[in-house]
Amino acid sequence: MDNQPRLIINGGKRLEGEIAVQGSKNSALPLLSAAVLVHGESVFHNCPKLTDIDAALRILSCLGCKCKRSGDTVCVDALHISENEIPDSLMRRMRGSVIFLGSVLGRTGRCRLSFPGGCDIGSRPIDLHLSALRQMGAVITEEHGYLDCETPSGLRGAKITLSFSSVGATENIMLAAVLANGVTEIHNAAREPEIVDLANCLNKFGARINGAGESSIYIEGVSKLSPSEHTIIPDRIVAGTYMCAAAMTRGELILTHCEPSQMNGFIPVLEQMGVRVYAYGGGKIYLSSRKKLVAPQTVRTMPYPAFPTDVQAPFTALCSTAEGTSVFVETIFENRFRHVSELIRLGAQIKVEGRVCVIEGVKKLSGAKLCATELRGGAALVVAALAAEGTTEISGVNYIERGYEAIEKELRSVGADIKKVQKIQ
Ligand code: UD1
Repeated sequence: MDNQPRLIINGGKRLEGEIAVQGSKNSALPLLSAAVLVHGESVFHNCPKLTDIDAALRILSCLGCKCKRSGDTVCVDALHISENEIPDSLMRRMRGSVIFLGSVLGRTGRCRLSFPGGCDIGSRPIDLHLSALRQMGAVITEEHGYLDCETPSGLRGAKITLSFSSVGATENIMLAAVLANGVTEIHNAAREPEIVDLANCLNKFGARINGAGESSIYIEGVSKLSPSEHTIIPDRIVAGTYMCAAAMTRGELILTHCEPSQMNGFIPVLEQMGVRVYAYGGGKIYLSSRKKLVAPQTVRTMPYPAFPTDVQAPFTALCSTAEGTSVFVETIFENRFRHVSELIRLGAQIKVEGRVCVIEGVKKLSGAKLCATELRGGAALVVAALAAEGTTEISGVNYIERGYEAIEKELRSVGADIKKVQKIQ
């Protein structure tokens, strides 16, 4: 019998209330990797409880770190790193595991990991990561699906210009450069808030990083990092998803523990659609949706500070009931409209051609059986189901739980009729 958990949603309930936004998954992962560089204990506050974070902690344990969690605080003691291989099972579990390459190489001079293959939102090559590390003196062999990386004469600073401002490559280079000999320059670096968070944290540990958040980052290598603590930034993607959920039900929502200035890429799109959004000081946002929403101007996913690819899926769900024609162009990943076929099952009228998605707004959606196949696409199905008439059943909940902490509890707390069931009765 199929015993996988499902979300059961009875749509049509207007969301109203307050949600405290969780810590950022995409910040937490490189920060946990940064802990590898520290001779001693790193303490991270506001660390979300997610399966991807559990996978990262398992990697740290395999490397010989002592990890413990108490509520939202995670402590990682990397004093006695004993291993430098990341097991294949953990690489497969989370492709983002490649973020450990830079720090393990920087700390131990060697790293062996399996090639992060496969694809859920498009091929995710790591050529930019590898070419940068090679420029820094790493010798990398790719054989039998494994990457063997060594630094025969240590890592040295280099001037690296990325052909695309990859978030993961920028982070991996920063992690490798912190203990390298000399100065590393990263040009055309990613400017996402998660990069700034990583630099702020590493600098607390004793690193010398300048320019994070701009397109050129300078890292002067130091000999050692020392224990410290850091509070992880709020998850702007989770905040954006809950904003779409509230607008989808034409509801009213207060988000706390968020950083409105990091959401300038998508808040204006909500406003164009007829959603009122007010940002307060102290990390608060108030959102109230009109009954009738209209299609926004063409939305293009782009690197920060533009519209993030990670909220594209929840926004396409929201636009499915907005009056008029909405157009989304996905420029970051080539296969990021996989949720669309499921939205169509709810009655949405959407056509996808290559990287373009065209949505003709419909008056209503109606509940159906759906399957989530990746994280943000899965969240989009939840957003849509909240407004669909009748019952929607969503399988593939494990994908959603990679990035959303207790999504059903959060949504229930603001009035949604949603529950997670283990088994279909
Ligand atoms: C990170 C985020 C992910 C987000 C993405 C873009 C984490 C854990 N994940 O992913 O949620 O959607 O940024 O904002 O933080 N590329 C190459 N070669 C490389 C690296 C990337 O061609 O070596 C391409 C990718 O295929 C993709 C594009 O660059 O088309 C963007 O990738 P990148 O910015 O690296 O995303 P990730 O760091 O994987």
